Amino acid sequence: MLNRTGRKLQSLYLDGRLRINRALGLPAQTGKDIQIFKKIFDNYMPRKKLKVFEWGSGFSTIYYSEYLRKRGIAAEWHSIDNNRIWHEKVSSIVKQKNLEPCIRLYLREFAPFWEKPGWGPVPPPCGVFGPKSENEIAYINFPSQFGNKFDIVIIDARFRRHCIQTTKKLLLPEGIAVLHDAQKAHYHAGLDEFRHSAFFDSGLWYPFQGNSNKVWIGSMENKELFEVLKSL
Ligand SMILES: C[S@@+](CC[C@H](N)C(=O)[O-])C[C@H]1O[C@@H](n2cnc3c(N)ncnc32)[C@H](O)[C@@H]1O
Repeated sequence: MLNRTGRKLQSLYLDGRLRINRALGLPAQTGKDIQIFKKIFDNYMPRKKLKVFEWGSGFSTIYYSEYLRKRGIAAEWHSIDNNRIWHEKVSSIVKQKNLEPCIRLYLREFAPFWEKPGWGPVPPPCGVFGPKSENEIAYINFPSQFGNKFDIVIIDARFRRHCIQTTKKLLLPEGIAVLHDAQKAHYHAGLDEFRHSAFFDSGLWYPFQGNSNKVWIGSMENKELFEVLKSL
């Protein structure tokens, strides 16, 4: 068990790694996370144009859209965020890189749970910080407004358990749901409702981390992609 100084050092280390990733234009992901995501994009066979929905815009939006473009895969990438400053920063990079034809960014603004009154070192009872405001609910339900369903849905930001429930309704039968940071047990509610479901180890962020990071993948009918990922 690490003491407070140890935990502080780990948090500084993680912060440093995230800064380096941002400076390099990389997603807020470990190297192994990136390998897993690429393997999904490399092996997923869309019926037509690849449709992606992502909760949590960022360098992932830009990096993987560029990756798909380089590989000649036609894609439409929709991504929503709750933080205006971050949304504007990501929007300006999308513009600068001429990715506007394939990326659509959305904003439903609200404070993250750690900025809300009552948040502190003692974890609150489940549900106390659940979605309540109009924008929080709109953020969770946002992709339901699109007529067509999605090939790939990425859950990487606020209210992940609720976003997983929305994902079930908007994923194509062969579509793939991807939950980042899936090592956290409180994100697991509802994952077993996907017929195919597996966790993939995605390495460590900092020394003495203990449990490694995980990416969870779920699908109703696409068993083949799970076989491919096992080879990583
Ligand atoms: C961990 S980030 C993940 C973003 C993206 N999916 C990626 O992998 O690059 C999740 C959230 O952090 C918030 N955020 C705010 N400021 C940020 C910053 N400077 N860098 C990264 N994320 C930031 C955003 O609201 C975003 O939705």
